[in-house]
Amino acid sequence: MIEIRQLDGNDIWGQIEGLSAVLVDCVEGGASVNFMSGFSMDDAALFFESVADAVDRAERLAFAAFDGEEVLGTVQVMLRTPPNQPHRGEIAKLLVRRASRGQGVAQQLMEAAEEAAREAGKTLLTLDTASDAAERLYERMGWTRVGVIPNFALLPDGAPCATTFFWKQL
Ligand SMILES: CC(C)(COP(=O)(O)OP(=O)(O)OC[C@H]1O[C@@H](n2cnc3c(N)ncnc32)[C@H](O)[C@@H]1OP(=O)(O)O)[C@@H](O)C(=O)NCCC(=O)NCCS
Repeated sequence: MIEIRQLDGNDIWGQIEGLSAVLVDCVEGGASVNFMSGFSMDDAALFFESVADAVDRAERLAFAAFDGEEVLGTVQVMLRTPPNQPHRGEIAKLLVRRASRGQGVAQQLMEAAEEAAREAGKTLLTLDTASDAAERLYERMGWTRVGVIPNFALLPDGAPCATTFFWKQL
């Protein structure tokens, strides 16, 4: 049974080990999510501490998928945008641990994130993803693919990878 919960800053601190384990597992699995190979649980905890601060400042929304108290995946919505883009939010760090993929966890996380973004007054969401990673998921969920920038980022092992940009009107 998958349960999606929105997390406040305290919740993130309380779940920091489970959230970090998901992020480390994704990087170890080769996901291009800003971090390079050798990324540790301590590195991941530092990252989620900064997320907790941003959530407390109302600059981000954070969600996690749980099976009981076990964290299966997570996603964030960046709410903080320049003054001329108050209606836009950005999806970041959609991560599902390898053992829990292919069961709709990411789809449920995205549904929760999109709904909360709408409730926060956002009417446009954007995101970028390593090409191939989650493109089918986003297209299935009504996102429009803008295009691909080759060599935009590196995979954890240092190999260059293309990035695809998407948008969705809420
Ligand atoms: C991309 C990612 C988030 C997808 O997570 P996920 O939970 O496996 O996604 P879903 O289960 O919702 O969808 C994945 C597939 O499972 C299928 N699926 C969903 N529920 C299913 C079920 N009950 N039974 C069988 N298949 C199912 C979906 O149809 C989908 O198939 P498709 O992609 O071939 O069309 C995950 O692979 C991941 O964390 N990757 C590393 C990080 C990353 O690249 N993130 C995205 C960019 S930030």
